[in-house]
Amino acid sequence: MDRCTGIIRQRLKKTWHLIFSKRPYEYVGRFFVKLMPESYQTRVRNEFFTARGPTGILADIVRAELNRQYYSSKTVEEMRKRDREMFWGATPGKRWHEFTKARYNEQDPHHREFLQPRRLLARQISDLLASSTRYQTICEVGTGNGMFLHDLSKQCPSIKRFIGVDLNKEQILENRQTYRGTELEFVHGEITDWIQYQCDGGTIFVAIETFEFFTQKELEELFHHIREQVSAAAIAILALAESSAGSEVVSRPRGSIAFNHNYLYLLKQCDYQVFRQDIQHGIPYDMICLLAIAPS
Ligand SMILES: C[S@@+](CC[C@H](N)C(=O)[O-])C[C@H]1O[C@@H](n2cnc3c(N)ncnc32)[C@H](O)[C@@H]1O
Repeated sequence: MDRCTGIIRQRLKKTWHLIFSKRPYEYVGRFFVKLMPESYQTRVRNEFFTARGPTGILADIVRAELNRQYYSSKTVEEMRKRDREMFWGATPGKRWHEFTKARYNEQDPHHREFLQPRRLLARQISDLLASSTRYQTICEVGTGNGMFLHDLSKQCPSIKRFIGVDLNKEQILENRQTYRGTELEFVHGEITDWIQYQCDGGTIFVAIETFEFFTQKELEELFHHIREQVSAAAIAILALAESSAGSEVVSRPRGSIAFNHNYLYLLKQCDYQVFRQDIQHGIPYDMICLLAIAPS
C-alpha cells in the first residue's frame, strides 16, 4: 500500500511539473499565509537567510510567499524598502551575520568557506595596489560582521581608510564595539547615500556576496553613480552566479531574494575595464571573482 502511494505521488509530482513551473504551494501560498498566525510567520522570516527556524511544508509556504512578494515589488524603491524593513536591515540580516560569524569561528569552515574564496579577491586588490598609488580608501559595500574588512586592513598597508557600510544598524553598532581601537570605520545606511555625501576619490569598492541582493537596475545605477561621482574608483566583486548568467544580459531571480547577474556585461556597459577576473566553476553556482577599474 505504502509503495503504491509512493508511486502515485511520484506520478502526480511529475505530471504537475510537466504543466507548471513552480511547486504547488507557491501558487496557493498567498491564501494559506493569511490563515497562519503572525507570530509563526515572524519566526520563519527571522531565520529567512539561515533556515534555522521552523521547518516543513508550512514554513516552505511562508518562505515562498515572502519571495513572491519581494520579486513582485513594483518599483526598485519598494524593494529597497522591503530590504531595509523586513530582510537585511532587520532581524533576518542580523541573525545571518551572527550565524556566519559563529560558523567562521570554527577552524575548518573559516579556511574553506571564509578565507579561500576571499583570498583570491584580496590578491587581486593587492595586485591593483602594487600597480597604482591612486587608491587610498577601501569601502566594503554590505560589510556584515566586518570580518573581511578587518582582514583587508592587515593586508593593505598603503590604504589610509577602511570603511564598512551596511543596511543593518544593529550589526554596525556591534562592529563599532568589536573593532573599537582599530582603524576601521562603520557606517549604517545605503551605499548610494554614502557615495553621495561621504566618499573620497581613490576608493576601491569591495562587495562580497552583496551585489546578488541588488536588482539589475540598482546595480547599473550604482556602477554609473560610482563612475560619475568618484574620481579614481575600482570595484572588486566576489559573487555567486549560475553558469548560464555569463551568457545572459538580463538578470534573473535566484533563490532567496537574490539575483543572478552577468557582472562582466554590466561593468562593461558602464565602460569599466577589467583588471583581474577568476571564475571558479561549481555546482549549483560558479564563483565570480573580479576587479574592474572605472574609466578616468
Ligand atoms: C549576504 S550579506 C554579505 C555580508 C558580508 N559581505 C559577508 O560576506 O559576510 C549582504 C549584505 O549586504 C548588505 N546590503 C544589501 N544592500 C545594501 C545596500 N544598498 N547598501 C549597503 N548594504 C547593503 C546587507 O545588509 C547584508 O549585510
